[in-house]
Amino acid sequence: MSNLQIPREFIQLVLTRTELVDLIDNRVPLRKKSSNNYFACCPFHTEKSASFSVCQNKQFYYCFGCGAHGNAIDFLMQYDRLSFPEAIEALAKQAGMEVPRTVNAAPQSLISPDIYELLATITKFYQTELRKSEDAIDYLKQRGVSGLIARDFCIGYAPKSWDYLLQTFGKKPNERQQLLDAGMLIKKEDGGYYDRFRERIMFPIHDRRGRVIGFGGRIFDKGEPKYLNSPETPVFQKGHELYGLYQVLQAHRQLQRALIVEGYMDVIALFQHGITYAVATLGTATTAHHLQNLFRYTTEIIFCFDGDEAGRMAAWRALQITLPTLRNDTQVRFMFLPEGEDPDTLIRKEGKTGFEQRMQAALTLSSFFFQSISMQADLSSMDGRARFVNIATEHLKHLPSGILQDMMFEELAKKAHIDVTHLKKPQGTSYKKTVHPKARSPSLVRLAMILLVQEPQLASNIKEDLPALDIPGAALFTELVENIKQYSFPNTGTLLEYWRDRKERKLLEKLAHIEHMIPVAGIQHEFLGTLEQLRKLAYKQQIKQLLAKAGQNNLSFEEKNLLHALIHNKKE
Ligand code: UTP
Ligand code: MN
Repeated sequence: MSNLQIPREFIQLVLTRTELVDLIDNRVPLRKKSSNNYFACCPFHTEKSASFSVCQNKQFYYCFGCGAHGNAIDFLMQYDRLSFPEAIEALAKQAGMEVPRTVNAAPQSLISPDIYELLATITKFYQTELRKSEDAIDYLKQRGVSGLIARDFCIGYAPKSWDYLLQTFGKKPNERQQLLDAGMLIKKEDGGYYDRFRERIMFPIHDRRGRVIGFGGRIFDKGEPKYLNSPETPVFQKGHELYGLYQVLQAHRQLQRALIVEGYMDVIALFQHGITYAVATLGTATTAHHLQNLFRYTTEIIFCFDGDEAGRMAAWRALQITLPTLRNDTQVRFMFLPEGEDPDTLIRKEGKTGFEQRMQAALTLSSFFFQSISMQADLSSMDGRARFVNIATEHLKHLPSGILQDMMFEELAKKAHIDVTHLKKPQGTSYKKTVHPKARSPSLVRLAMILLVQEPQLASNIKEDLPALDIPGAALFTELVENIKQYSFPNTGTLLEYWRDRKERKLLEKLAHIEHMIPVAGIQHEFLGTLEQLRKLAYKQQIKQLLAKAGQNNLSFEEKNLLHALIHNKKE
C-alpha cells in the first residue's frame, strides 16, 4: 500500500532484534570461518568454492563472486523474493513484533481501511445481479462459462444504470468519496458522480490474499471499450497484479509452472478445462514486478502469445523484461498460438491435452532469443556473425551472472562459430575469484569512511566537530558522523538501512565490504589517527586560503589572528 508507511524507527528496531547469521543459516547452511565470519557457497550464483560471506559484527553479507550483498532485509528480498514491506513483516513476525503503519502525510486521499470491505460487498452485489439478469446469464452460457467457474471467479453483472452503486452505497458524502477512491465512480464536471461500470459482465480482480482490489468489466453487447478496468487506486496497481493468481494459488500447494496469457476469458476458459495455472496481465504488458511476483511461487513461466507479427514483438519485449529477473533455477518459455486463436478458443477446440501438447512445444528462452536475433543478423557472413555477437552480448549482459549466463554465452559462441573465450563478457560477471588488486592506499576520507561504515560505534570517539574540508567525500563523511551520532547504529546493516533510499547508498555498501587489513586491535587507533590527519589537512587548507587573501592585503583583524593561531598550532 503506497501511502501506508512503516516507521523508520521500527525498521531499525526489527533489524537490531534480528540475527543475520541465524536468518541465513536457516536457509543456506553456513560454516564458521573465524569468530564472527561465516561462509557458504553463494545462493545467488552457482559456484564450487564458498565466496559468500556473512559478517556477524557488521550484520552484513557479501559475495566475493557475484557481488550480492546487504542486510537481513536485503537477504529476504533477494532470497525469498519478498518486497521491502514483506521482508520487514517477515522479520517482525520472527521477532514477535507487530508492524505499525503510520499514514504518510502526503496529501493523497487516505486509504480507508474499509476499502476492501466495500469492494467485497460490491462483488457480492454484482453476483446477485448476475443471477437476476437473463441476458447476462445467456451471454456467459453462450461463451461456455460454467456456473461453477463463475462462482470460483466471483463473476457478476453491473446492471444498466448510471447510478446503481451510487444510490445503493453512496448516500453520504464520505461514502461517495470511498466509492470514488475505490475506482467505482466517475466524477462529473458539475461535481456529481456516476457509476463507472454499467451493463457489463464483471470480473473481480483479487490480490494474493483473496481480497478484491478492482474489476474488469466486459461489455456483452456491442460497444466500446470492450473491457473496462478499474483505474489505479491505493490498493490496485496494474503493473503488479495478475488476474487469476489467487485462484491459481488456491488450486496448487506447489505450483510447478505458470502460464501468462492476455485476457480474463482466457484464464477462465483454461481453468474450466483443467489448466489451472494461467494468469493474465491486466491490459498492460508484462512487467518485472509481475515476473518477480510469479517467481516466488514457481520456477517455470510460460508466456503465451498470438502467432502473428504483433505477438512476436510482444514476446521479444517480454523477453527483455525477463532477462534481469532470471536465476539459475528459473525457466521461461514462449508459446505461440495459431493465428486467429486465443487460449479461450483453442482450449475449447482442443481440450486440455491438445493445449498442453502445444505448450510442450513452446520455445525455450534461449532458442527464442537466438532465433529472434538471427532474424536481425545474417549468420552466413562474417559481418553478420559479428553483428549477431554484438546484439546478443548487449542483451545477455542483463542476465545475472551465473550458470545461465555462462550457458547463453557458450551457445552464442557456438552459433557464431567462435571460441567462447573471445566473447567479451560484461564486467563483473566473471566469478572466478578475482584477486583483489592491492588497493592504492585509499584517501584519508575514504579510509575514515570505510572504518566508520564497518564499525559505526567509532563515531563516539569524535568529540569535537569536524572542521570543514574542501575535498571530495568530506561532506558525506561529516553527514555520516552526525547521522551515526544521532541514531547510534549498532552495526553496518542497520546503518545502511538508514541510507536505503539515498543515492550514496551504493558507495557506502561498497565501503562496507572492503577489506582494510587493519587488525581489530588497531582499528580505533587508526581511525583516530586518520581523523587527526584530516584535521591537519583542514587547517592547512584554511591557512592557504588566508595567506592568499593576505597577499591581496584583504585580511581583517580577526583573520590575521586566526592565521597566526593556525600557523602556530601547526608547528606543534
Ligand atoms: P482481447 O481484445 O484480446 O479480448 O483483449 P479477449 O481477452 O479475447 O476477450 P474476449 O474473448 O473477446 O472476451 C485481451 C485483454 O486486453 C485487455 C483485457 O484485459 C483483455 O482481457 N483489454 C482489451 C482491455 O483492457 N480493454 C479493451 O478494450 C480490450
Ligand atoms: Mn477471447
